[in-house]
Amino acid sequence: MEGAGDYDAIALKCVPYYEAFYGTVLDFVHPEDKKILELACGTGIMTERIIKKCPRAQVTCVDSDAWMIKKAGEKPALSEVKFINGDMREVPGSGYDAVIITQALFFIADPDRRELIAKIHGLLNAGGRFVSGDMFAPETDFEKEVYKRNWIDLMLSNGMSLPEAENMIAPLDDFCGGNTIRSFSEELNDTGFSRVIVPYRWGYYGIVVGYR
Ligand SMILES: C[S@@+](CC[C@H](N)C(=O)[O-])C[C@H]1O[C@@H](n2cnc3c(N)ncnc32)[C@H](O)[C@@H]1O
Repeated sequence: MEGAGDYDAIALKCVPYYEAFYGTVLDFVHPEDKKILELACGTGIMTERIIKKCPRAQVTCVDSDAWMIKKAGEKPALSEVKFINGDMREVPGSGYDAVIITQALFFIADPDRRELIAKIHGLLNAGGRFVSGDMFAPETDFEKEVYKRNWIDLMLSNGMSLPEAENMIAPLDDFCGGNTIRSFSEELNDTGFSRVIVPYRWGYYGIVVGYR
């Protein structure tokens, strides 16, 4: 299997305007944050950005894939990060200033997702942020067709083949289920987050931030 660098380069071909996406998630991580938890960190694409912005923070990362988390741990910039190979539904610790997740919450269906959101709320400090950069279901079939077309065009312009691009998005509707940005925001409100905002949206991609 390829190294983390190769994996990251391929992965980033699929993320539309990835600097805007990861950069907007990063806007909600503050240099003064002391404790940060990243769920489903993969090979650490987001973690590298967090560490660069918050070099003094205590950062903990969880991922269930042993290969991914090993590759993340081998990145020299992430040598101070605590990596846990495990299921994000068993979220560890308490007293976090921020809990971050990118491109992974859609793997968890209700009722597990609802339980996970409640756990995350419980382990944030007052005023702490839950930053969820995820894929969300479009509200209408028309939106769905437009977003799929735009996403495939973008992957093709990044050098992927049509079958590769189509394979990438084929399982998405099943994963997203009926979880739209609107329903997810309501879920956060119902869980007790005091403010919920949506600072970014591009097609299936959205970032929803809940403040405890
Ligand atoms: C598409 S990758 C995203 C990785 C990284 N967050 C990023 O944006 O590059 C999805 C990640 O979610 C992880 N994952 C899926 N289900 C998980 C679970 N239940 N617990 C922990 N990690 C999980 C996978 O192992 C994978 O690393």
